[in-house]
Amino acid sequence: MSSSAAERSDALVIFGATGDLAFKQIFPALLALVEHGRLDMPIIAVGRKPLTDDALHARVHESIAATKAKPRGKSYDALVHQLRYVTVDFDDAKTFSRIRDAIPDSQHPLHYVALPPDTFQQVGAHLAAAGLARGARLMLEKPFGHDLASAQALSRALHESWPEDAIFRVDHYLGKEAVENIAYFRAANPVFEHALRVGQVASIQITMAEELGIDGRAGFYDAVGAIRDVVQNHMLELLACLTMELPTTPGHAGLRAARSLLLAQIAPILPTDVVRGQVAEYREVKGVAQDSTTETFAALRVRIDSDRWRGVPIAIRVGKSMPVTITEALVRWRVPAGPVLDETTAHAPDHLRFRIGPDFAIGVGVNVKRGGEAMTGELAELMLTHPPDPAASMQPYERLLGDAIDGDATLFASEDASLAGWRIVDPVLGNVVPVLRYAAATWGPPEAATLAPPDGWHDPVKTKG
Ligand code: BG6
Repeated sequence: MSSSAAERSDALVIFGATGDLAFKQIFPALLALVEHGRLDMPIIAVGRKPLTDDALHARVHESIAATKAKPRGKSYDALVHQLRYVTVDFDDAKTFSRIRDAIPDSQHPLHYVALPPDTFQQVGAHLAAAGLARGARLMLEKPFGHDLASAQALSRALHESWPEDAIFRVDHYLGKEAVENIAYFRAANPVFEHALRVGQVASIQITMAEELGIDGRAGFYDAVGAIRDVVQNHMLELLACLTMELPTTPGHAGLRAARSLLLAQIAPILPTDVVRGQVAEYREVKGVAQDSTTETFAALRVRIDSDRWRGVPIAIRVGKSMPVTITEALVRWRVPAGPVLDETTAHAPDHLRFRIGPDFAIGVGVNVKRGGEAMTGELAELMLTHPPDPAASMQPYERLLGDAIDGDATLFASEDASLAGWRIVDPVLGNVVPVLRYAAATWGPPEAATLAPPDGWHDPVKTKG
């Protein structure tokens, strides 16, 4: 069976169309794709609940109204005209033929499974049994599996009907403009690229902080937790973008392989290199088990075993119910060992900072002289706060859906990368490390301080730019 990698998809089938992700991300992305002339095909929204097309369209309208002042227009009309709802019982293979009936002429459907990971195998198998795998692609939300063994088993099971080049594993961080820019920035600015290595870099840290808790998503989150939800995938891929060897071939092609190679060099995380936290009152959230030990915060020390990075302290910190919503990668350079010129100057390490969300920013920390007689200095930051052309920027789900329709897997996690992510976090999944309480709107349990790089956790609130 071949995936016809170069063929453009001719129908889009979306599982999970009544879910939160569809409402927040997928429907607005569909409209943007129609607006940009990239989605001229039938779109079938699939769900378990019976729903009329009108009810679906009303939900799409509500979703788009939440992101746009004027939701209706020519593109909106075109989108709802293309969009139909089909009810399928995921446990009953026979009901999958309804999808085939809805797209009788499609030769190359793209099936996007925006459902919890424990459904992927069954949905993949039932689609194949209904004759819907031939010439098709399967786009799967994350997490892909629950641990290393289940991810390997899932890959094996899917491969019975889906060749690897037909499987598109979503990591929406790879679709972010700010993340794509990291590789570009490095390649286009050799002065920084040259310094990104042991001997020049004092430490690297990545923070993904979210002010919100998990209300409304407990059913998904309590079985998953922070490490599976965002470290195994988003954080490790982000670290790979920052630390991989840049491909020598131009364009996108080598980036996916370069990220995978880097991930293969990260050592499995040791239990002593992890602090897990659970926000106070988490167990009272509707849908959370009363004795839940799921982490809503994690701090981890990561080691890259390569000549370029061996010995550089690297730390990742992720959490819900944090003081602020911000995702940033911070590289601190080593400071001059002695006094600057003829005066002793206490100066903070200067840095390179990539803000990934909620907005775009790149900050370059520099030491500059204070005004006055003395040769003493202070840290200042040069800050770029907008992507050069905001109008041309795409939201991740528009970019990723468009790429999957075109059969371009560059911005999707490869099987190697996904399995490498699991191999790295596998030793610290579950309750190997006890979960510690922390108060909402704080930076996690105080014990997280023990895993900070030698120059401390950076406070993105204080240095917001
Ligand atoms: C998702 C996680 O993948 O990413 C969520 O499941 C998290 O828990 C979200 O909130 C964050 O995405 P973004 O793009 O808002 O940083």
